[in-house]
Amino acid sequence: MPLYLCGELDPDERQAWLAALRASLPDERIEDSLDRLDPAAVDVALVANPPPGSLLGLPALRLVQSLWAGVDRLLADPTLPPRVPVARMVDPAMAAAMAETALWAVLSLHRGFFAYARQQRDERWQVLPQRRADEVRVAVLGLGELGRAAAARLALQGYRVEGWRQGATGSPARADMPVPAHEGASALAPLLAASDIVVNLLPLTPATRHLFDAQRFGAMKRGAALVNLARGAHVVEADLLAALDEGQLSHAVMDVFQAEPLPSGHPFWRHPQVTVLPHIAALTDARSAADSVAVNVRALRTGHPLAHLVDRGRGY
Ligand code: NAP
Ligand code: GLV
Repeated sequence: MPLYLCGELDPDERQAWLAALRASLPDERIEDSLDRLDPAAVDVALVANPPPGSLLGLPALRLVQSLWAGVDRLLADPTLPPRVPVARMVDPAMAAAMAETALWAVLSLHRGFFAYARQQRDERWQVLPQRRADEVRVAVLGLGELGRAAAARLALQGYRVEGWRQGATGSPARADMPVPAHEGASALAPLLAASDIVVNLLPLTPATRHLFDAQRFGAMKRGAALVNLARGAHVVEADLLAALDEGQLSHAVMDVFQAEPLPSGHPFWRHPQVTVLPHIAALTDARSAADSVAVNVRALRTGHPLAHLVDRGRGY
C-alpha cells in the first residue's frame, strides 16, 4: 500500500525527503501528490507540519508519521483522524544538534560572549567578571528526547544542571536521566528561583502554552537568562520584553516565535539583549530521519509495536 508525503516543504526539501525516504524504504511506493495515488489505498501519511485538512479522504490510513519532532500543529487539526496512531520524529542527529545549540547558548551567556559582541559594536574594551562553569546553575525544562540530550551535554561541560518534567502523569520513569529531575507543577517555582539560565525544551500543550509570562519571569532569579528552543507560544513576548527592560532578565536567546518568520519591525530584531535565530536549533536531517521513519513503517508492515507514539490526551 502506498505512502503519502505531505506538508509545508519547499521544492528542494520535498525532493530531498522523497529521495531519502525512497532510499530508506526501497520496497515502498512513496508519492507527494494524491494525483499519483489512489487515496483509498494510502495507509501511511508522512507529514511535515501539514496544513489542517491535509489528511481528509484517506479511509485506509493506519499510521500518521510526523517528520517533525513537535506535533502541536498536527494535533490542533480538528480533522486529524481520531483513531489513527500518530508517531513523531525522534532522531539522534536532531538530538545532537539540539545539544550543540543549547551548549552554544549557555556557554555564550555564561562567558558573556553576547555582551562582548555588543561591546565590539560600540568599540568598547572592557573585561567582564568570569565565573567557573560549576558556579552556573542551569535548568532544562522538559527532559524528553531533546531535553535529555541538551542536559547531558551541559552537565558534561561542568554546569550545575537540573531538569524539570511532568512526572506521574507524563512518560514512564526512566533510569537514564542525565541530571536530577524535578517533577510536577509545584517544583517549577523553586527551580526557576535557583537558576541562572533556563533552557526551554518543553512540548507545546495546553499546560505549557504561555508558561513564560510576567509571573514566571518574576519568579526567576534576578538577572537570569532564558533560552527558548522549543515553541514560540511558550512565551508571552510582551512580558519577556518588559522583564528584559526592567532588568529582571539579562538576556534571551530565542529560536522560536509566536509568528514565524519573525515579522519585520518586531522589537526582538534590534533588542540588544535578545539573540534571534530563525528556528534552526535542530534542523531535521532527512537522511537520518528517513531511517527512523523506515523503522516504524517496517514495524507496521510486520505487526510489531510502533515507536515514538504521541499520547493525544497528554498532547505530546
Ligand atoms: P518530548 O520528547 O515529547 O519531551 C517532552 C518533555 O517535556 C518530557 O520530559 C515531559 O515530561 C516534559 N513535559 C511535558 N509537559 C510538561 C508539563 N506540563 N510540565 C512539566 N514537564 C512537561 O519532546 P522533545 O522531542 O524533546 O521536544 C522538545 C521541544 O523541542 C518541543 O517543543 C519541540 O516542538 C521542540 N523542537 C524544536 C526544534 C527547533 O529547531 N527549535 C526542533 C525540534 C523540536 P515527562 O518526561 O514526565 O513526560
Ligand atoms: C522542529 O521544530 C520540529 O518540531 O521538528
